[in-house]
Amino acid sequence: MSSVVLEIQGLTKQVGKNKKIVHDASFQMKKGEILGLLGPNGAGKTTTIRMIVGLIKKTEGKVFINGSDLDREGQSCISDVGAIVENPSFYDHMSGYKNLQQYARLSKEKVSKERLDEVVALVQLSHAIKDKVKKYSLGMKQRLGVAQAILHKPALLILDEPTNGLDPKGIRELRDYLRELANDGISTLVSSHLLSEMQLMCDRVVIMEQGKIIDVSDMSSLNENGSSDQLVVMMNVKKEHMELSEEVIESLEGITIIKRENDHQLVLDMTHDLIPQLNRHLVKADVDVYGIESKKTSLEDKFLALTSEDRQLMKEGK
Ligand SMILES: Nc1ncnc2c1ncn2[C@@H]1O[C@H](COP(=O)(O)OP(=O)(O)O)[C@@H](O)[C@H]1O
Ligand SMILES: [Mg+2]
Repeated sequence: MSSVVLEIQGLTKQVGKNKKIVHDASFQMKKGEILGLLGPNGAGKTTTIRMIVGLIKKTEGKVFINGSDLDREGQSCISDVGAIVENPSFYDHMSGYKNLQQYARLSKEKVSKERLDEVVALVQLSHAIKDKVKKYSLGMKQRLGVAQAILHKPALLILDEPTNGLDPKGIRELRDYLRELANDGISTLVSSHLLSEMQLMCDRVVIMEQGKIIDVSDMSSLNENGSSDQLVVMMNVKKEHMELSEEVIESLEGITIIKRENDHQLVLDMTHDLIPQLNRHLVKADVDVYGIESKKTSLEDKFLALTSEDRQLMKEGK
């Protein structure tokens, strides 16, 4: 089996005469990877996911699942996938449990009662699982959808905004569970409009805006505080000491001057652990240092390329 679980190439969805709501989207997902699709509402996340799972026709592009072309081997492709795409639909007059049982019957592999109970507990529905779905809130339906999608332990899990309707505890549990699945080699594509959530949950994040992929960021270089080891650093020194500062920095390994901001500020590209060393060398050379301040991580840097309106939406989660 190939280690690339999902690959999309030039995926495009056009509506009407010439409106492209998804435009030339390409990325790959590896086995055991949690990949985030991050973008403000209306960015095209759901449309992309719908095309991947074959719920809507793509206008252009290719989808490969475990190396198989979705256009040619659709059925076998989809049996490897578990997905929830926006408000999943259920039999309203049946209980949550009956819905899951019904779904389990369609699965290639037998789903045990223990497994059913396990996923029900995981999505915090044990207390209501015997109630009819028509009594469920939106959040409860969302959770039932997650339960359904992971029931048969698919190789590729696709969750469209799965944390909508989950409380913080539920979100943390889902995150832990996805990590466990990933350790077992199961890959998850998960969409969200929340930057912070994606940072915590994912190995890599694809940023989407207005139908286009504008960036792919690796999270593995991010430390526990969510800040990257690789920093953009703003350094303030006495005006007269600028040239000397540049000389000192150029003699140091691992620090690059990105630009001269003005007559007393330099912008540097460096790792966090080199800050004390930088400071020490500058002081030793008699440079008056007024400040060394790390500005932003690389992800935030990319994030800043978004329109300010979209940034606000993703930070606040509106
Ligand atoms: N069938 C359609 N016809 C026209 N516009 C659509 C259709 N489906 C979605 N859109 C528009 O495409 C954009 C992307 O939608 P969507 O994929 O749902 O974004 P997201 O999931 O990122 O919020 C939105 O502006 C939406 O209104
Ligand atoms: Mg959506």
